[in-house]
Formats: sequence, C-alpha cells, structure tokens
Amino acid sequence: MLCLPALLNAQEGESDVVVTQEVWGQYEGEEIKRFTLSNQYGMRVSVTNWGAYVTSIVVPDKQGAFEDVVLGYDSADEYVRDCCYNGATVGRFANRIAGGHFRIDGKPVQLSVKRDGGNKGNHAHGGEVGFNKKLWHARQVRGGVEMRYLSLDGEEGYPGNANVTVLYRLNANNEFTVSFSATSDKTTPVNLISHIYFNLTGNQKRDIEQHKLRVDASDLVQVKKGLLPTGKLMRVEGTPFDLTIAATLHERLTSEHEQLKLANGQDKTHGGFDHTWVFNRYDGKLQHQVQLYEPDSGRVLDILTTQPGVHVYTGNFMNGSAIGKQGKAMTFRSGVALETQHFADSVNQPQFPSTLLRPGETYSESTVYRFGSRQ
Ligand code: BGC
Repeated sequence: MLCLPALLNAQEGESDVVVTQEVWGQYEGEEIKRFTLSNQYGMRVSVTNWGAYVTSIVVPDKQGAFEDVVLGYDSADEYVRDCCYNGATVGRFANRIAGGHFRIDGKPVQLSVKRDGGNKGNHAHGGEVGFNKKLWHARQVRGGVEMRYLSLDGEEGYPGNANVTVLYRLNANNEFTVSFSATSDKTTPVNLISHIYFNLTGNQKRDIEQHKLRVDASDLVQVKKGLLPTGKLMRVEGTPFDLTIAATLHERLTSEHEQLKLANGQDKTHGGFDHTWVFNRYDGKLQHQVQLYEPDSGRVLDILTTQPGVHVYTGNFMNGSAIGKQGKAMTFRSGVALETQHFADSVNQPQFPSTLLRPGETYSESTVYRFGSRQ
C-alpha cells in the first residue's frame, strides 16, 4: 500500500496537483488539447477535450513501477477515429434505449437509432455522433480540468438544450475523480459515463483474464437479445455473475450461463460480461462499490460512486482490428470497462431509478477511481 501522511485530506492534497496542457492535434480547424494532472507521488492522468476522453492513467505497481493502466491510443487523430469508446465520455444517454423510443409526460420521443451492427434499430451510447465525437470547451481548475459541452435541442433526437460539464480531478490519495453535471431547458434523459477500459497489468502486458473483480451487488439487470433489459432483475447468487466475493475473470467468463451467451462476441462458446450490476447500497451518495485487483502487479483499483450500478464490459466484441498504444492490438479481453451508470432503457422501465432531468434541476454524479497496490 502506498504510504501517505495520515492527516492529509483531499482538499490539501489537491493543491499539490500540477496540471499541464499541450496542443495535441486539430479537428476542423480547432485545437485538440491534452491535459496532464500529476500529483506529488508520481501518479499521472491525461485527458483530452476531444470527446472528453481519459487517455492515460499512470500508477505504480507493488514494486513502485509506474505504468499506464487504461487502453487507448498514442495520438489525437486516433482518438478522432476511435471505434470503441476507449476512455470516452458517453452521452447524452449511455447504453441502450429500445427502438430509441419512449414517452416523456405522455409525449413521444424518437432518438436516432443504429443502422447496423448488434444495436441495429436501437439507440446506443448517445447516437451516431455522441458526446465522444465532440470537441469540448476545456479549462484548468484547481486540482484538475473542467470540460463543457452544449448539446443542442434535437441533437440525436434528444429534447432540450443540455449544458453538460465534466470535471476531472486528481488528489494526493491517488484518487482520480470524474464528476458530471448537467442542466436542460426541457425534460430529457441523461446517463453520462466514462467508458474507460482498465488493464492493471500495466502497459497492456497481458490480457485481463487473471484480474479479480468484486462488486457489491446481489442483482443484475437481466437482458435479452440485443442486450436490452427485460425489465427484471436477476439474483446473482449461484451464477457466474456473483462477484460479492472477488472472482477471477477467466473462471467466470468461461462458465456456462444464458446471460453470458447473449454477449458472446468473439468467443461464441462462452460469451462474456456486458451487463449492469445493481448495487446493494445505493442512496445517491458516494459509496465504495467495486474493486479490481491484478495479482502480478499487485495493483488495486477501488471505485466509489454515486451511481446505482456498474456496467462491466469484457471486450467481447473487440477483434484486434483496432491498434492501440505502442502498436498493441486491442483484442478480446485486452481490457475491462467498468462503467458506473444508471440502467439501460430506464426511460421505458418505470421500476428502474429515473434518468429524467427536468428544467430547474441539476444532474450530478461522481465516480472516484482510487489506485493502490498490495504485495
Ligand atoms: C457496450 C458494449 C459495446 C461497448 C463498446 C459497452 O458499453 O455495452 O456492448 O460493445 O460499449 O461500444
């Protein structure tokens, strides 16, 4: 474990965070910037205003070796062409909405729908040109970077002008915090996420199969074909989805279960995780919910969040065609995305926590990624 002065609190810690910025590329004549947040213990996080992506998180292993633990690319141009939301901010509504259709106060809303692929006919990850394909307005703030994007009324079919902010902060406790906020002048669904793929081996040395994952959840959002919620929750006890005690991903992903097969991507025999776990303790406040551990490096990632669940995606559809950092291909199991979020299709499932943001309200969600290590 990293030793830190016992009395150091997050506020004091933040003052020691240094933020640097550089022009990283161009998009339609505008500058793409990259910001790097560093703390006094050597942890570094880089983010870019293109799609408000998190492009790298460099943290020590149990021997003190600093390596990057997120998938991504080396250049801004590659982020512009990204296929797979590699570290992106996804919105206005992440995950799927059946048929892109729902009603708000009785009035029908039709969002854009995917024309092909596994999500054909449904709305997914904010649409064809989601928040991950926009240039955000960024500025340095104390301990971090704030990015803003104005999503206009009608964009991808969404009602209302939505003012969206993401705040990236680092502190001296090796905690990287992502805070989203939004307001809108018409009622609109909002589900903002960070689509970061983790690989704690460091610099993508191996795949994620030996990682151990723990999620404090007794239920899963049950899905049907197309990975759309059935509307029911499924108890995880006695299934490969029971992560209440840390489990090795390989063991779970090679188990037999109908729900795993629905996300079968590259491995047609077993499938994988592309599911949302429903936290046992959820009250909208920051709670410790998830732990990812990689035994060789000893790296531990603890996730605290205000969100009601985590969508875990084990790269089932990644086929190696995308080449990432240092020329390494991103294949099946190269990374695991841990997307804290509200549930897919919530707008059509009144029993799920509401995702509607009304005029005069402020949407606000935070997730803390706390890094450490053990021997
Ligand atoms: C989805 C996957 C999808 C991936 C990349 C995840 O959040 O649930 O089905 O392949 O994002 O788009």
